[in-house]
Amino acid sequence: MKYTLLWRLCTVIAFGTVLLFWAIDWLTTHTESSMSFIATEHQQQLLDYGKQADEIMRSEGEAGLAIWLKNLQQKEQTWAAIVSTDISPMAESTLYAPFFERFQIGRSVEWKIHLYFQENPVMEVPFADDNTHFLIQLPQRMRPGALLIYANVLLQIALPLILLCLLSVVLYRHVMTPLRKLENVTKAFSEGHLDVRTNASLQSRHDELTRLAITFDKMADKTSQLIYTQRQLLGDLSHELRTPLTRIDMAIDFMEQRINPRQALERLRYEASTMRNLVEDTLTLAWLNTESPLLTYDDFDLVELLQVICEDARFEYPDRVLTTALPDAAPIKHSSQLALGQAIENIVRNGLRHTPVNTAVAVLLTRVVQGYQLVIKDHGPGVPPDMLNDIFKPFFRVDKARAAVQDLKDHNQGRGFGLGLALAYRQIEAVGGTITAQNYTDDGNRASGLCITVALYDTGAPAQPARPAQPARPAQLA
Ligand SMILES: Nc1ncnc2c1ncn2[C@@H]1O[C@H](COP(=O)(O)OP(=O)(O)OP(=O)(O)O)[C@@H](O)[C@H]1O
Ligand SMILES: [Mg+2]
Repeated sequence: MKYTLLWRLCTVIAFGTVLLFWAIDWLTTHTESSMSFIATEHQQQLLDYGKQADEIMRSEGEAGLAIWLKNLQQKEQTWAAIVSTDISPMAESTLYAPFFERFQIGRSVEWKIHLYFQENPVMEVPFADDNTHFLIQLPQRMRPGALLIYANVLLQIALPLILLCLLSVVLYRHVMTPLRKLENVTKAFSEGHLDVRTNASLQSRHDELTRLAITFDKMADKTSQLIYTQRQLLGDLSHELRTPLTRIDMAIDFMEQRINPRQALERLRYEASTMRNLVEDTLTLAWLNTESPLLTYDDFDLVELLQVICEDARFEYPDRVLTTALPDAAPIKHSSQLALGQAIENIVRNGLRHTPVNTAVAVLLTRVVQGYQLVIKDHGPGVPPDMLNDIFKPFFRVDKARAAVQDLKDHNQGRGFGLGLALAYRQIEAVGGTITAQNYTDDGNRASGLCITVALYDTGAPAQPARPAQPARPAQLA
């Protein structure tokens, strides 16, 4: 569910609050009602007074009862009286006017007392004859509910405070525990532990924080992958730089000893340019890896671009045959002429480099539903099937030894660092296409070799009016 955490919090807070109100109300009412009765020993005491009055009436008459009544009133600091059922005073009892308005015979000592009335109620104990009644205004000391105020403070202030604090702690823990886990994972990640992930610990919650955890894990995957790739690139680059640097050292030695200084100078120039190409290609690759840009600046004709590339390639490899099968025009929108051009040039040169002398490399362009399909086939040795994906990895060469020899032989043809296809892969990706490699065998023509297929799709993205500032390595593709 999209807002699981929100609904969870709403439910807990809403139900919790309603439940709390209900519980407080119930407890208050219950406590108040249980506090509204006269304590049992006081009930007994009042009943005993009534019994004593009855006995005195019988033994000593009204005169004796009047004395006892007076003493009782003094002792209990309250008003007491003896009345007949028609509420006529007996034993010198005094009744006040409001008393007649309010009083009704029959308020037994077991009755509930109204705790909010200022005045204490008048309790009644009937004599055995049932015609005479002992009345006494409940003595203050016997008034129940003395602790009501404390009970109210406890129930209406302290209890809600404690329960709400507990609820807040539960909610806080519910939200903060995963955030803290995330914080620890983020901290560990930022300290260089690139393999830490939130994993199942947070993902079992199925709420907004799970989505945050999943997003973090994806970000960590991508970032660690990038860092590993960059480290690998840096390692490979420094490794590859060793050879030209050694050659530069040698050339300098030669120059110092004045052994063929002109050739040494040429060597220096060549190695410097090799190193420049190597560094630029690596930086461009790093930029493409990091930014994963979508290059959509140009609209151009792919046929024209292919013709220029093939023309140059024929010039560079005059001893190979380069055939083309191209439509009249192939307008491409929202792409990058430079990136696509570099990629295709690399593939064509690879083909020409690996195809034997006097054999052909074919460049075929066809229109397909979503765009164009470019096929470049050579007559070379192909690539071992288990390495068909690896050739797109940076600095990968099928046979490093062979490549090194080839590289030495092919100084004029250039590099051989294993960067061309890795760059081509990302460049084609950046213009919204794909590149794949297969070995092919054409029994009819007794031909075999490597077939590189480039599918170019219309990205649908509008051409960008101006290029944005490009952070890491824009120069080659800009
Ligand atoms: N047409 C091909 N036939 C056979 N092997 C190929 C072909 N194209 C590429 N390869 C193999 O794939 C490897 C990677 O190719 P890639 O273009 O990336 O590097 P490179 O050509 O060796 O060097 P660079 O392109 O940097 O000058 C090559 O070293 C080669 O072993
Ligand atoms: Mg190459």
